[in-house]
Amino acid sequence: MAPWFEFPHEIRDVSAEEEKIIRKCVIGYTKPFVKCGKAGYVMPGAYRKYAEAIYNIKVRPDDVWVITFPRSGTTWTQEMVWLLENDLDYDAARSSPLHERFPMLEITTSIPEVAFELIKINFMNLADFQGLNEAVKYPSWKSIEEAPSPRFIKTHLPLSLLPPNLLDIAKVLYVARDPRDTMVSYYYLNKMVARGLMTGTFAHYWEAFRRDLLPWTPTISHANEAWEKKTHPNLHFMFYENMLQDLPAQIREVSKFLNKDISEVEIEKLADHLSFANFKKNKNVNNTAGDNNNVQFVRKGEAGGWKSHFDAKMEVQAEEYLNKRLRGLTLTYPTYDTGEECSRL
Ligand code: A3P
Repeated sequence: MAPWFEFPHEIRDVSAEEEKIIRKCVIGYTKPFVKCGKAGYVMPGAYRKYAEAIYNIKVRPDDVWVITFPRSGTTWTQEMVWLLENDLDYDAARSSPLHERFPMLEITTSIPEVAFELIKINFMNLADFQGLNEAVKYPSWKSIEEAPSPRFIKTHLPLSLLPPNLLDIAKVLYVARDPRDTMVSYYYLNKMVARGLMTGTFAHYWEAFRRDLLPWTPTISHANEAWEKKTHPNLHFMFYENMLQDLPAQIREVSKFLNKDISEVEIEKLADHLSFANFKKNKNVNNTAGDNNNVQFVRKGEAGGWKSHFDAKMEVQAEEYLNKRLRGLTLTYPTYDTGEECSRL
């Protein structure tokens, strides 16, 4: 029998003031949001009930997990990993949505209660977004637990909220991205999902992000947990910006990590399949909830886009935020290095 791990983190409600800030940015949740553990990872209230079950999902040696903070290049990495692990079967990749091939562990806890009801009566357009329809009917971690091997698992939960034996057993890829671009991308995602119902502005989002109040924040603790384990043989740590800069090189490294032999011609073909232009056209990865303000799931695909969104005050706040959160850590981002902005991609 596999061991049962007691959930080691305290889960508490966010304060009333914090709740107000969060609610400007996300819609449809009726339960109070919670913070978990010392880092204070923010999750919807539903997570409280299921944290221990998720922490105890049985890991298998042939699992491959992709872990990220939202909007860090998860989908891009998932498709790369799935194809490398499935003999570059482009026909199979083209014939089923990525969220079916590579489901998200905790998605059921992240469905807003209101959307839950609406999806149940099949009324909300979200039903076809990222497998939400199935996740309403049956908890996502249970379907994953029951899925045949090999399993491909996506999660936005940080390592500390995942099974403590994960890295001993399975292969894990972690992708990080400049938090400023992640935040901009997160804003557009929520805007798309809320379909015009979001009351918060970009400034509200930034406020929630820099106070580490959006779901799955704090993003730097999230990345740092994986960064600290980056020399573990079962963990491959990557940056979105490096994928943008040289995708074939990243494919080469991931293949090595997954013990896959891949020729240069195949790398080129895979890089083409994963190119931004092809990704945008590919409905199995660009899983967009309706056509909301022309925002799509696969949106801009660039580094430094935050500069056209932040005003001067936000820029200063961002620098303060990054410096404060990175203080004392060895973690640096390709586009931000310990307080000094370094060469941009
Ligand atoms: P932007 O909104 O900044 O464009 P995730 O999959 O973790 O949600 O990440 C989504 C981000 O990755 C989005 O960022 C999206 O456009 C970007 N992305 C997805 N596919 C990409 C690709 N093939 N090339 C570059 N960026 C990509």
